[in-house]
Amino acid sequence: MSHRLGPNCWTTCTRHLDYQEEGTIMKNRVTVPDVVAAKGKRKLSMLTAYDYPTALWADQSGVDMLLVGDSLAMVVLGHEDTLSVGMTEMLHHTRAVTRGAKRALVVGDMPFMSYQASIEQALLNAGLFLKEAKAQAVKLEGGRRVVAQVKAMVEAGIPVQGHLGLTPQSAAVFGGFKVQGKTAEAAKVLIEDAQALTEAGCFSIVLEAIPSPIATMITESIPIPTIGIGAGPNCDGQVLVVHDVLGLFDRFTPRFVKQYAKLGEAMKAAITQYREDVEKGIFPGPEHGFAMDEKEMTKLFAS
Ligand code: KIV
Repeated sequence: MSHRLGPNCWTTCTRHLDYQEEGTIMKNRVTVPDVVAAKGKRKLSMLTAYDYPTALWADQSGVDMLLVGDSLAMVVLGHEDTLSVGMTEMLHHTRAVTRGAKRALVVGDMPFMSYQASIEQALLNAGLFLKEAKAQAVKLEGGRRVVAQVKAMVEAGIPVQGHLGLTPQSAAVFGGFKVQGKTAEAAKVLIEDAQALTEAGCFSIVLEAIPSPIATMITESIPIPTIGIGAGPNCDGQVLVVHDVLGLFDRFTPRFVKQYAKLGEAMKAAITQYREDVEKGIFPGPEHGFAMDEKEMTKLFAS
């Protein structure tokens, strides 16, 4: 069975563009054609961000793409799943991220029920991410069932990133956050969905929690980059949730996460120190206060 597709519009448009040399950080904004052109040349890095400071520091670290994920619901707002955020929250946080990100390509994640009900609603909501929140692209979950929405968005000039495998908005259908595509039949569905999304005009596809060999097959069978999360090392790029990377999420750490810092513990230690300093009268010190002119003090006492 061959999964290789012919060139789609993104590869045709980007054939002559230069791409970033390995190990260098791009000075200008990473564009959708840059992302497509990276396939087979260099690995792409993507991280979630939900606020201005995270976007600012992640941007300066040189990641290619920042995803304002609907994981916002869980890691920032404390919900049990990703279903509890809507367009209002997603646009609010995307605006904060685009204020901080000067170079990375910002992708706004379309929340549950913002694109499922109708193509028209999907198009209008996708447009808001670009028009009002200044994102450069949107992401939505699903395979062939969202192809009509993807086509409408791409035709309207909105770059779309697909998302296959463990799509958290469908966790109820899967019976929880479970690895997908483990049977031959399920893997075939994923491969065909990836081809359908490519033909619909997606510029890249996130592959979440699927067996590595299936992610490799998909990566080799489509001309657009795959961005893996729990999908093995052979994807064209990787994405992680920033709260997992920095050790800020308390509830669980998925097996596919590599934690690079323990900022939650560092925050707790710093805030404990602050509380103790306040209680002991150590903070604020003289250096943190403002002096009053002696003459004015005298005047005040005399009045
Ligand atoms: O919402 C999110 O953070 C995501 C990533 C896990 C890809 O969709």
